[in-house]
Amino acid sequence: TGGPVVMGIETSCDETGVGLVRDGVLLGEALSTSMDQHARYGGVVPEIAARAHVQSLVPCVRSALDAAGLRPADIGAIAVTAGPGLATALHVGVSAAKAYATALGVPLFGVHHLAGHLAADLVDGEPLPNPLIALIVSGGHTSLLRVGDLARDPIVHLGDTLDDAAGECFDKVARVLGLPYPGGPAVDRAAVGHDRAALAFPRPLTGRTDAPYTFSFSGLKTAVARWAESHPDSDVPPGDVIASFQEAVVDVLTAKAIRACRDHGIADLLVVGGVAANSRLRELAASRCAEAGIRLRVPARRRCTDNGVMIAALGDLLVRAGAAPSPPDLAAMPGAF
Ligand code: KG4
Ligand code: ZN
Repeated sequence: TGGPVVMGIETSCDETGVGLVRDGVLLGEALSTSMDQHARYGGVVPEIAARAHVQSLVPCVRSALDAAGLRPADIGAIAVTAGPGLATALHVGVSAAKAYATALGVPLFGVHHLAGHLAADLVDGEPLPNPLIALIVSGGHTSLLRVGDLARDPIVHLGDTLDDAAGECFDKVARVLGLPYPGGPAVDRAAVGHDRAALAFPRPLTGRTDAPYTFSFSGLKTAVARWAESHPDSDVPPGDVIASFQEAVVDVLTAKAIRACRDHGIADLLVVGGVAANSRLRELAASRCAEAGIRLRVPARRRCTDNGVMIAALGDLLVRAGAAPSPPDLAAMPGAF
């Protein structure tokens, strides 16, 4: 009874994720990451990520099925991240998904990674409000979107970053300040309890009526690097520098997201992507949204970073909406689309 079991596969970056969802209910999941293998390079190395996906994907499928008490033959549809992302990494997931779909004789849905992030917490209960403004902040993206019915309406891009993504900025600044990889979580931890007003780092492109929803983070990264270089023996505690940097990022993100809600007369804001796991972003977004009368939705931390459940949840939504499956020649689409 009910809809099919949808298996979601995510391999766009360094996480190998598998999720099993039926009718909005999470049945099983598995996640494997190659993060440690990239640490010494200071960033994700595509070939290493792809090799790790080749090794981990089938075991992840097995482990998700075991967790759900299901067999491969119980899978009724497959969703896979088609892009954007690292080309070699995406090819692994798309090829595997096509192989499973062909062998099992079930429909295959190639989905957009960002749409997947938007579906991150659908399995935790409430359907998404329609319309909503979404702030997607990850290692590869910083975008403000206007979202209608996720299964039917095109997503409207209101603005993106001109240069670095917010997560990329966290990662690069962490490196400059000598924090471990990945930088985002390290910055988050190091800033706790420190003075976020110690240093006034720039808030790029704020107060700009010509670019209200456009972001730029490379100048901020440079400003922090320059400050660190020119103050080798500073009395400012490192934690204060880190907290001040983090405050600049989350100030810009929340200000522009709330502005987008106001300008569009939309009182629902969804914040997703790896950087949405940031504690100060969650806190500041909550207080500013409360002031502005905006309902804020941020998925649980572990659903913010890349995973297979979000892809399965989106696939499940598409199946229930009667969406057309992808053609058999589905290919990975690494670039923006
Ligand atoms: O969504 P995600 O897992 O992968 C991409 O699609 O990019 O996001 C990863 C990014 C990384 O840049 C990481 O440093 C950042 O999210 N991130 C954080 C936190 N946790 C992960 N940034 C700030 N604070 C965090 N707690
Ligand atoms: Zn992502």
